[in-house]
Amino acid sequence: MHQAKRYLVTSALPYANGPLHIGHLAGAYISADIYVRFLRLSGKDVVYIGGSDEHGAAITIKALKENTTPRAIIDQYHEEFKDAFTKMRVSFDMYHRTSEAIHHSTSQEFFKTLYEKGEFQEKESEQYYDEEAKQFLADRYIKGTCPKCSYEEAYGDQCENCGSSLSPTELINVKSTLSGNEPVLRKTTHWYLALDKYEEWLKSYIEDGTLDGEYHHDPESWKNHVVGQCKSWLDGGLQPRSMTRDLNWGVDVPKEIPGSEGKKLYVWMDAPIGYISATKQWALDNDKDWEPYWKDKDTALVHFIGKDNIVFHCLTFPAILKAHGDYILPVNVPANQFLNLEGKKISTSKNWAVWVNEYLEDIPNKVDELRYHMIKIMPEQRDSEFTWKGYQDSVNNELVNNLANFTNRVMVLAHKYYDGVVPAFDENQGIASCNDQDELSFHDSEIITLFDALSELGQHIRDFDFRAALKMLMQVSSQGNQLLQFNEPWKVVKTDPELVKVVINLGLQYVAALSIGIRPFMPDTSDTLRELLGLPQIKEEGEWDDMMNTLAEGESLLISEGHQINPAKHIFSRIDDELIQKQVDKLFATSSDAAAPAVSIKKTVQFDDFTKLDIRTATILEAEKHPNADKLLKLTLDLGFEKRTVVSGIAEHYSPTEVVGKKVSLLANLAPRKIRGIESNGMILMAEDESGKLAFISPENGMVDGAVVR
Ligand code: MF3
Ligand code: ZN
Repeated sequence: MHQAKRYLVTSALPYANGPLHIGHLAGAYISADIYVRFLRLSGKDVVYIGGSDEHGAAITIKALKENTTPRAIIDQYHEEFKDAFTKMRVSFDMYHRTSEAIHHSTSQEFFKTLYEKGEFQEKESEQYYDEEAKQFLADRYIKGTCPKCSYEEAYGDQCENCGSSLSPTELINVKSTLSGNEPVLRKTTHWYLALDKYEEWLKSYIEDGTLDGEYHHDPESWKNHVVGQCKSWLDGGLQPRSMTRDLNWGVDVPKEIPGSEGKKLYVWMDAPIGYISATKQWALDNDKDWEPYWKDKDTALVHFIGKDNIVFHCLTFPAILKAHGDYILPVNVPANQFLNLEGKKISTSKNWAVWVNEYLEDIPNKVDELRYHMIKIMPEQRDSEFTWKGYQDSVNNELVNNLANFTNRVMVLAHKYYDGVVPAFDENQGIASCNDQDELSFHDSEIITLFDALSELGQHIRDFDFRAALKMLMQVSSQGNQLLQFNEPWKVVKTDPELVKVVINLGLQYVAALSIGIRPFMPDTSDTLRELLGLPQIKEEGEWDDMMNTLAEGESLLISEGHQINPAKHIFSRIDDELIQKQVDKLFATSSDAAAPAVSIKKTVQFDDFTKLDIRTATILEAEKHPNADKLLKLTLDLGFEKRTVVSGIAEHYSPTEVVGKKVSLLANLAPRKIRGIESNGMILMAEDESGKLAFISPENGMVDGAVVR
């Protein structure tokens, strides 16, 4: 998409139901910010959109829990998000919110258009209803056991354990999250988007990068894990998805539509349209036209998200956009995977997180340090981990020892030898000890090396390869350091003053290049470097391209001879062990993890209820991978008096050979269920800790098969 005339870049709209943590930052915000800042530096026309997702059951449930209103919740978190993003220098052109009128009307218009075009199927179905709360139970209002992986805390719309998208009636042992009661079924009517109808073109869009038979994007440019997840959905066959809910909080189904009363748009129908309404608001505020950004084929639409949003951005939203007509589809959805923290999944409810606002308070003036470390460990292709020790190492070993050390040394030497004036040098100054391109002057050949490194850095950013880009940035700094190391100006300043002029001039060119190259990653440090160099602040208006042209021409310089720089200063300082220990202690002390059970104890049952369960000892005789599911094993169990087949979701933890011969406990009178095409007769009891680690509940040595467990 190098030919794109303009860019519309989005970051996932965070649910306004809890504060921002580093997992959010790593997922969809720092990455997008690097990209848009780079585009602006390259002189591109780019609009960067974000906002708070203020609908959906997560928000009403939070309000209920805290005995307040959804409005109070969203107002609080919207302000917190805005503040945290501003302080983290995430440079949205518009940070909007889905509770705004312009968003309600925009998403209603979408719904109406799709309705009028006949894209919806109106269907009556039975849905869970909580008689005590007098409410239908959509999505997060309902919990139960995932039919795919047996995770017991799966929501009505999605299992957060295996990532499957679910419908509430697929869940086993459903419970209302409002009352804890078992819900009843009631009839209700909803509008369904027939995703199955779009399967063909979605397949070519994702797999071949074509749309309506024409080239749309290079499928190779999408991340493997993104395409992989989409493919597995497409292979499983898409189902019609209800685009409405029985709720009292959200965007109303337009009044003109018969039967609209009491119905709201499904949050995943309204939220992505939030990108469009935010763009409209941006256009209004800036006296611009929003439409080219969403409708002109010369626009590159790019969505930055976390991996839990892939299906909605790669399949559902494109389907909605195309069904509406006129709209462009994303040229890339560079989703990140998850960031873990000190060995565990980040969890809001267990307070296992580094909260952005707390970081900003506890460790003031270290925004770029956090940005740097988050980019370095960004979960671009696979899950990654934040540790406080790792953060400290990044700051001390890389930012202080490499970057700050180099920039400071050059500027100190420039002051020492030339009173802070950029030295003029002899163009024909010969061949340095560190290179042997004899046809080039020392200065020219170094500038070429610098140019090459910066070109590579830029290409990595265009490829959404931000970790690699950051590495190149640090390599530029290392190259600068080596320049000093090889030539040792402090030793030869008396004997070879001409060489020292070249070295210090080059060193300052490096620092000037860093002041621009660092911009997408660490914008405040860019400001600091520009100030130290006495150069104008970066406005992100094409300075990258100007720099590359300057370096390519080889005649003019990034910082010119005779220019006066300001007194030198260290741009980063060390982080000591004490500060790190404090943060680690705080994490453990304030997490509810140790104190409370990770999964709370279920409602009391009577002894009679328990005796209904028939649990038996058994031995695993045979095991093989389930032909249609990576997570499942097909097991043959010996109960002494019979053999039977059980499908178990343990394939990611145990290989077939590992489990053969194992003694297990089996819930033997569980109603048979077909799991991905194979009938399962019972369930093996497993212990699972919060990290997802599994262990068999095995009878002790020598117990016969078929013994009763009670
Ligand atoms: N609120 C959703 C989440 O946090 C993301 C919504 S992204 C949007 O998972 F595209 F729908 F806006
Ligand atoms: Zn699951």
